[in-house]
Amino acid sequence: MPRTPNASRLPTASCLAERLERGREPPLSFSKPIQIRRVAIQLNQIVPWGRTREEYERMFSLSASDLAPGVLDCGGGPASFTAELNALGHRAVSADPLYAWPGKDIQARFEAASGSMIAQIRATPGDWVWSFHRDPDDLLANRRAALGRFLADYEQGRREGRYVIAELPSLPFDAGTFGLALCSHLLFLYSDLLTEEFHLRAIRELCRVAREVRIFPLLTLKCEPSPHLDAARARIRSEGYQSEVVPVNYELQRGGNRMLRVFR
Ligand SMILES: C[S@@+](CC[C@H](N)C(=O)[O-])C[C@H]1O[C@@H](n2cnc3c(N)ncnc32)[C@H](O)[C@@H]1O
Repeated sequence: MPRTPNASRLPTASCLAERLERGREPPLSFSKPIQIRRVAIQLNQIVPWGRTREEYERMFSLSASDLAPGVLDCGGGPASFTAELNALGHRAVSADPLYAWPGKDIQARFEAASGSMIAQIRATPGDWVWSFHRDPDDLLANRRAALGRFLADYEQGRREGRYVIAELPSLPFDAGTFGLALCSHLLFLYSDLLTEEFHLRAIRELCRVAREVRIFPLLTLKCEPSPHLDAARARIRSEGYQSEVVPVNYELQRGGNRMLRVFR
């Protein structure tokens, strides 16, 4: 059965949202949708900037066997990963406070925010590697294409339980619901806003709902190694989890080409 998220997590999500605004930077049974309406985050505090399945496959070194047991994309936002996987017949669910809003509002927010995102990227040329995306214009075109694929699946996917309103560090899924939980561009990236304790609680929660957890990137918004990585790994090791840092075939933030795997 779905569980109701703990309200104590909400200030942290709002804090993250404020940073995003400044621009510095269901269970797998689809017949049973979960809609939790109460979220603290506001849409105008989110930059809905999402990645594609191909980017996820590279960021997380995904193979067909990784996908078979069912995948959670936590903090999935407007990424097209879940939509694309569903179209290919895989079982995938995205969880995010963003899904409290209808698609037209998410699209409007994308258009309102993306100009300043690209301007900031152009202003920091040394921070980016143009290997997957050709340049900032190509990046924006790819983000818009991902949003389009997400939106095409979103309303039906919400009804079918593929897009679940939820916030770390408390998720409305039973233990072991997923084979794999992915977290892209949330944990570690926002290390200056999300505390070490938040990271620990979030990783524990992802490990509760999935057999394996993968997190990317391991850099902060300043392209520096996250100060929480070593501490989080030490603490989860003392709780019986194993972890490893794995190089991956994706780099947009300069130096951001490693992911964390956590498993029992
Ligand atoms: C930078 S976006 C990344 C979207 C997607 N994972 C990707 O890589 O394309 C970060 C996402 O995290 C979501 N988010 C913020 N706080 C969260 C929380 N506490 N739990 C889950 N998601 C959260 C935001 O709404 C946003 O959609």
